[in-house]
Parts: sequence; structure tokens; C-alpha cells
Amino acid sequence: MARTIFFLLTLLTIFACTPKSGTSEKSEETKQQDAKMEWWRDARFGMFIHWGLYSVPAGEWEGREIPGISEWIMLRAGIPVKDYEQLAENFNPVKFDAEKWVLLAKNAGMKYIVITSKHHDGFAMFHSKASPYNIYDATPFKRDPLKELSDACKKHNIRLGFYYSQAQDWHEPGGTYSGIEKGTPHWDPTLKHDSLMNYIQQKALPQVKEILENYGGLDILWWDTPIAMTEEAAKLLQHEVDKYPNLITNNRLYRPWPGDFSTPEQYVPPTGLDYDWEVCMTMNTSWGYKWYDNNWKSAESLIHMLVDIASKGGNLLLNVGPTAEGIIPDSSAVRLEQIGNWMKQNGESVYGTSASPFFKLPWGRCTQRQENGNTILYLHVLNWPKDQVLKIPGLKAKIQDVYLLTNPKQKFAWKFENGNVLIHAPSVIFDPINTVIVVKTKGYLKITSNMPTLKDGKIELPAEFSDIHNPGYGIHAVLHGSGDKAVIKNWSDSRVQVEWMFNVSEPGIYKIESLMKTKAICGINIGVGEQNIKTEIQPSDDKFEVVLLGQIQISEPGNKVLNITPVKENWDEIEIKKIILSK
Ligand code: GLC
Repeated sequence: MARTIFFLLTLLTIFACTPKSGTSEKSEETKQQDAKMEWWRDARFGMFIHWGLYSVPAGEWEGREIPGISEWIMLRAGIPVKDYEQLAENFNPVKFDAEKWVLLAKNAGMKYIVITSKHHDGFAMFHSKASPYNIYDATPFKRDPLKELSDACKKHNIRLGFYYSQAQDWHEPGGTYSGIEKGTPHWDPTLKHDSLMNYIQQKALPQVKEILENYGGLDILWWDTPIAMTEEAAKLLQHEVDKYPNLITNNRLYRPWPGDFSTPEQYVPPTGLDYDWEVCMTMNTSWGYKWYDNNWKSAESLIHMLVDIASKGGNLLLNVGPTAEGIIPDSSAVRLEQIGNWMKQNGESVYGTSASPFFKLPWGRCTQRQENGNTILYLHVLNWPKDQVLKIPGLKAKIQDVYLLTNPKQKFAWKFENGNVLIHAPSVIFDPINTVIVVKTKGYLKITSNMPTLKDGKIELPAEFSDIHNPGYGIHAVLHGSGDKAVIKNWSDSRVQVEWMFNVSEPGIYKIESLMKTKAICGINIGVGEQNIKTEIQPSDDKFEVVLLGQIQISEPGNKVLNITPVKENWDEIEIKKIILSK
């Protein structure tokens, strides 16, 4: 659902990764906003920390492994308030070392940290006068870790933000919870119901005042899940925020609520957006520590994700879930160190850059920097081209120099050909994770977009230009090969979705075909904007065939998204080379 809404928003605001540099006159308000967001936009990479009482049960309650994300255990396992409160008695994270955490983030190349000051369970991780249900008063620890973290951040020049769950509070009679909107009662019948405003006035607002006041000037306030939030409550909290003109907040105070940035969660949007955004992402599956969650993403895929996000003009807030002892698990620390090694050498191609000016680069991503009216392109080569030619499609520019970011003496030969720039990429793979090639140009660039569009009555959507959305768990569909040989393979999980963006210059009725193969009957849904069609594909003798999927009417010109989703109850596995729309 969230993804669909996001997509509609994307469609409305798509600008195909055009940088925000515009030269038109900016309003006073925009200038102020730009000044406030400057450090955040430059930062690109931050650490999210989910730490709270839930790190004690770590995903397990009364000997049972509770499914889902660990910080939701109180709700998912239906734990009564009094029983959950007792976790505080054993919460003594003596191994917590604020400086160690900050240095871990800093060495990974992160520029800011956002930590849970109070999650949905209602337990404050700071010394709060507004509620004794906090780490200082209710645990044997008797320390304020957020104060220590704030001091360490100051010392090491890392920006700090607090996450605060303003609506959901499962510990308080007036707090909300998932299900409240449908009239489902709180799982603990002893918790008497009270109004949201009473809870906001007695706990949320006073605590928000405390965190804004007592932690040396927060840089970010990160709201979450505005379940059953009212406009009245949101305005009251916003009034407090307004007293801190440099404070950056997200879009989750209320719905809809712009905030300073939007927060795609656990997925990367297919294109850039013309407002600020930050992807929040776990390294495994859960945000809070869950001892048996071993679904780790590799350091390589996290680096690719960071670069992908930067190439679309966004930030990555990458999560760690410390243990009840106060330790960031080794599996996270090791990955952070690996990311840091890459960032130390290649950070210039990420920090302070803006979105790629290209629609798609099949071999990788691009970020760019404007300096004194000149443009520097950073080409992130994720799949080294086998033919040793790196094609930059549709680029017109005065190229001055092309070299390896980590070794400027390593130059590359290049030439213009058929409206493209071709860089001779020798077969030495300089960095197996991501080699960054710098293209220095003089003046601004001229780019002809390579977004698929009508040519000879057809719009062809090659596998290489697809966006594959895999679920957190399960078998992941992948792109094999490049150019005409590229194929989407391993698409056996029915939760995988694949999307393509394309441009329609001539509205009308389009026939949709696919070059594909499958071993068994498969049901697929095809959506373009509001229109959806469903079809069934027959087995294809293990060879690629052009299959008719149906036809759709496109009534308006412009950028569109075509998306393919499996019919869940009728799915086996398919492979796709391309989609063809024809008039
Ligand atoms: C969700 C979850 C929450 C997590 C957050 C991070 O909204 O409710 O547990 O803190 O996402 O973005």
C-alpha cells in the first residue's frame, strides 16, 4: 500500500533524476530551507539506532520466537504492561560506550546518528522528568545514554537526531497502537482508555520539550507512525518544533505531513524525487536486536544501495540494533567497517553530490558535483562492461579529464560516438565492489535522456532498465548479463515486483508483449498508472518467446511506470528479457 502511494506521488513528481541546481530565482523561504538542509543533504549517510527495552527479550517471549520486528514484541506477543515493565529491572547495558558507537558510525563514513529516544513501547531511553518509565529511573543502569551519546557526538563532530514515537505508546492509557483505528481494544485489559490529548499533554509534549532542550541542540527529530494521530495533537507538537528553526524533522508527525524530508522505509525509490528524502533500512530484517535474525545484507550490497540512493539525490539511514548489554552486534560492526573502507577512498563521490543527470546507466550509477560552473561526474561502475567500453548515453560536454578517483594518475581514453561518450575501460577491475571513474567537464552538460520512448511505433523496455523490488526474505530475482543479453532471472518468489519507467509521446492504445520464458503456467498482473490487466502465460519449452500480455489505453502523454506483479496463487517462475509496447 505504502509503495503504491509512493508510486503515485512519484508519478506526480517525477523529474527523472534531474539535479536540483535550477538557476531560477529562489524565494526567501526556499533559501532558508536550503540553508537549514545543507549539512543534511551533503551528509548522504547516517546511522539509525533502535535500542530499548525490547533488546532484552530480543525477539523471544516465554520460550517462543515471536515473528516480526523485535521492537514490536510487546504488541505481537500481547505482553501485559506490568509484565513488560519488568524487563526494565534486568536492563543494565554496562557495556554501552557512547564513544565507541559514535566512532563506529564515523569510521563507516556516516555523518549523523538518529537514535530511538522512545519507541512504541513507551520506555524512554533518556532521563525524563515527565515519566519515571525511563532508563535512568527504572533500571539498575542509572545512566542517561542519550546524554553520553550527545557528548560523544559533539566531541567527534557527528550530528545527532532523536527518534520519538509521538502517537503510539503502548504503556499509556491515551497512547495509540496498531488496531486502535478499527476499534480493537488494547491487548491488556487492565490499561484503562484515556484520550490522545491527555497523553500528548502529559507525556509526549513534555518529553519532546525535554529532548529538544536538554541534549545540546538536536539536529533532527524523527517522528514515527502517526497511528490515530489528530491534527490538534500534531499542531501542538509542531508548535514546540517551531521554536528550533534549525531542527530538521521528517514527514511522520501526521498524515499527510510534509516535514523537511520524506522517509521511504525498507526500499529504494526507482527515481529521484524533487523533495528531500531519506531511505531508512535495516542491515538484517529487524530494527531492534533479535538474536536469531541472521538475514544480513552484504557490505557490497549496502555500498551499492548507498550509491544508488546518492545517485537519486537521497540519504541512507542505515540501522543497527544494539544488544541489552549495550553492544552493537559484530555482524553490523564488520559491515560498517567494510563500508567505511570503501568510503574512505571514494567518499568524494558521495558526500555533497547531487543526483545523476542520466535516466539509467546499465553498468552502474552516477553522481555529480557542480564546481565554479563546471561539472564533475562520478561514474560508479558496479558491473564492469565485458566489452571494455563504458557508454555514457546522450552526453554532450567539454570533457577535460577522465581518471580513477582513487588514483588520478590512472587516466582513461574516451571518444564521442553517435551522440554518446565511450570510455575505454581496460579489463583490469580496479575495485570489485564499485570502481569510481571521474569525468571532469567544463561548463554545464547537455544530456539527451535514454528513457525508453516511442521509436518506429514501439516502446521497448529492456531487462537492463527494470527496477526489481525484492522482499526482505525469500529468493531474490536478479538481473543477469547486460545489453541485449540481459535477463531477469530467479523470479520465483511471488512477492517480487518489477517496474519500468518510460515516456509516452503519443497517447493511444498500446499492445503489450513480453520476450520471456516459463516452465509452468503463471498468472501475471500488468499495471500502467490506474489501469491493470491480468493474464496467464503458458509454458514455453525452455526458450524465449514473444508473448502477448494484453493491451492498455494511455490517454495522457508523459512519464509512466509499467509494473508487473505475480498472481500469488498462480505462480511458478518466469524469466524476462524485455517488454514491448506497440501502437
Ligand atoms: C516502522 C516501525 C518501527 C520502526 C520504524 C523505522 O514504522 O513501526 O518499529 O521504528 O518503522 O522506520
